[in-house]
Amino acid sequence: MEFKKLFEPIKIGPVEIKNRIVMAPMNVHMANADGSVSEQELCYYAARAKGGVGLIYYGCVLASQRAWEQHGLMIDSLFDPGRHMTGACDMAETIHHFGAKAFIQLSPGFGRQQRYWRTPLYSASGGIPMDAKLCEESTPDVLKPYMGVKPDIKLPYTNVPREMTVAEIKQDIADFIKAADLAIVAGFDGVETHSPHGYLLHQFLSPRTNKRTDEYGGSLEKRARFLLELIEGLRDHFGPDLPISVRLSGAEHVEGGITPEDMRKTAKLCENAGANVISLSDGCFEAFRYFFPEKENTHILEEQGKKLKKVVDIPIISFSIHDPELAESAIASGQTDMISMGRQLIADPEWPNKVREGRIKDIVRCQREFACLASLYREGGIRCIMNPNVGRERYMPEYWPQKRSVRIPETLARVRGIKQTYTVSPTTGRKLKILDQAP
Ligand SMILES: Cc1cc2nc3c(=O)[nH]c(=O)nc-3n(C[C@H](O)[C@H](O)[C@H](O)COP(=O)(O)O)c2cc1C
Repeated sequence: MEFKKLFEPIKIGPVEIKNRIVMAPMNVHMANADGSVSEQELCYYAARAKGGVGLIYYGCVLASQRAWEQHGLMIDSLFDPGRHMTGACDMAETIHHFGAKAFIQLSPGFGRQQRYWRTPLYSASGGIPMDAKLCEESTPDVLKPYMGVKPDIKLPYTNVPREMTVAEIKQDIADFIKAADLAIVAGFDGVETHSPHGYLLHQFLSPRTNKRTDEYGGSLEKRARFLLELIEGLRDHFGPDLPISVRLSGAEHVEGGITPEDMRKTAKLCENAGANVISLSDGCFEAFRYFFPEKENTHILEEQGKKLKKVVDIPIISFSIHDPELAESAIASGQTDMISMGRQLIADPEWPNKVREGRIKDIVRCQREFACLASLYREGGIRCIMNPNVGRERYMPEYWPQKRSVRIPETLARVRGIKQTYTVSPTTGRKLKILDQAP
């Protein structure tokens, strides 16, 4: 089979992605203990960029100190000027050096979906904890031993949240935009909202968890208001040239939760508010098998992607497609514009290069057996049963960038309206090339 469509470039806003292959956001728990980017993390991402993927989502990264203080899942990255900025610059530069574009997934937090808390939790509405029975039933057995990492918590997720105040929502939006601004200065090409999977923004979208009676609850439009104000805030701040990606669960798959139709309406509202791409995922912690499909995700293509494409005019990304032939045919038949994969690129970072070169038999296939998640749940860096190099990429010189660019990052030049830019020799500091137009 020829893989023509898979290797066709595509634009997200003004940014061109060289092919249709996306690395889904995955927190790999390799950051330094203070939330900053580590050398290991850089080399892990370098390996994936070198493997030929077109677009890498880095994250999720917590967008505020408050979200960081609340976090009880094993998320480790934080966007805090002074702590994170140097590493963020390194991250964007490294991904670019190896030939991919870099978007950052920013999160205002996880709300009630946490295994334990450091400070009391808040959610869209107070008094609605997670359904621990659903969590336990839907979690694969291999992950169960790690669910309550803290010895005193036997049943995770049962923490009862309070309702978030309007002032806190406004503060979250302001912090998110500040974090996005830093990310663009650091060199990222675009920003994604962490709004799927039952986390805080999803809790606002869902009629099951949002029972508010103010302007952030009630109708679908009002439940989407937090997310829409975030998107509009980004658009106001950056103008038309910032690629904004919105990640949504195709459905909640729990009674009374977000339906596929709700998702489509929300996606359209996001497009109208200024989003440039919708990245589909699915489920939540109470519907885990949709969140982490155990086989090729034809469901997302057939049931959700295809219908979503009729509703929105911006590109969509469909997730958990590991089979090259399925990926090619899904794009060729118009079920999706791009495909994303997470665990498959952990197992084999060279998947895109191997497909491009027709070396399909050489692909190391992800077994979808959750070893990566089990290591993450244990609160260690991720591991993979198929790829012993995961977590050791820092010892592999092929992933050390050799040349360091000092060019003004593409999106930064656009959103700041910089018309003239240049490259500088890394050794002498002399200007090498004047470009009339920023890229
Ligand atoms: C270790 C790990 C961490 C993840 N972290 C995130 C995250 O921070 N944000 C997010 O939107 N999805 C996250 N995901 C979900 C993936 O983006 C992806 O949707 C999921 O793994 C299913 O796709 P796959 O079958 O190709 O892995 C994570 C997945 C894994 C395996």
